[in-house]
Amino acid sequence: MQTEEDKKNVVRLQDLVDKLQFKVKAYKRQAEEAVTYRGKKRIEAPPHIFSISDNAYQFMLTDRENQSVLITGESGAGKTVNTKRVIQYFATIAALGGKKAEPTPGKMQGSLEDQIVAANPLLEAYGNAKTVRNDNSSRFGKFIRIHFGTTGKLSSADIETYLLEKSRVTFQLSAERSYHIFYQLMTGHKPELLEALLITTNPYDYPMVSQGEITVKSINDVEEFIATD
Ligand SMILES: Nc1ncnc2c1ncn2[C@@H]1O[C@H](COP(=O)(O)OP(=O)(O)OP(=O)(O)O)[C@@H](O)[C@H]1O
Ligand SMILES: [Mg+2]
Repeated sequence: MQTEEDKKNVVRLQDLVDKLQFKVKAYKRQAEEAVTYRGKKRIEAPPHIFSISDNAYQFMLTDRENQSVLITGESGAGKTVNTKRVIQYFATIAALGGKKAEPTPGKMQGSLEDQIVAANPLLEAYGNAKTVRNDNSSRFGKFIRIHFGTTGKLSSADIETYLLEKSRVTFQLSAERSYHIFYQLMTGHKPELLEALLITTNPYDYPMVSQGEITVKSINDVEEFIATD
């Protein structure tokens, strides 16, 4: 006889497997898509952020000149989402054919491509918050510089950030929320941090972060916390 607890565990396991499969499929699809835009002229492929990225990449290789992609628009227009696509495109293209670096003990692990992509959740935890117009609104601007070697391989990247909306740390409108990181910490997913910071798991204990909402429907704070960590 299966107990109630067993049934729950099976459902939870299935849920996790589904999620993993979904992620893997999405990643494969994206890599395939990136390849179809590789080296095409803008009129040869349907309009796509990958096409813009590839044009910049090809111009850089042929003209030997720095290229910029300016991503602008009102709140919720898709700047953050598209910036991630651009970075992912460069990471996918620059990793094609290249061999992965051997892991060095004591150094940060993962290829440079992975490291650049993995920087995002951390930046967003400290710089994004729910606003009336966007559940994941960036309250900062960023200047991302990606350096390539002479053969077009990624060599390094740095990100400059500016203009954090400081007032949000102490005040939020009723339909808004402070920076994600506060609520991620208070999920209690990392008990050692609760202890080190001497905080509770109830945001309402802290008026500074609970003047507005404390949960966002479209955001799973525990999952985001794992990505940040
Ligand atoms: N190309 C797209 N296709 C479908 N949905 C999109 C697309 N671009 C953006 N969105 C949706 O719009 C939401 C807001 O996008 P995003 O966070 O990129 O906006 P933003 O321009 O960075 O805004 P802000 O200035 O507030 O930071 C995303 O969470 C996503 O759900
Ligand atoms: Mg944004």
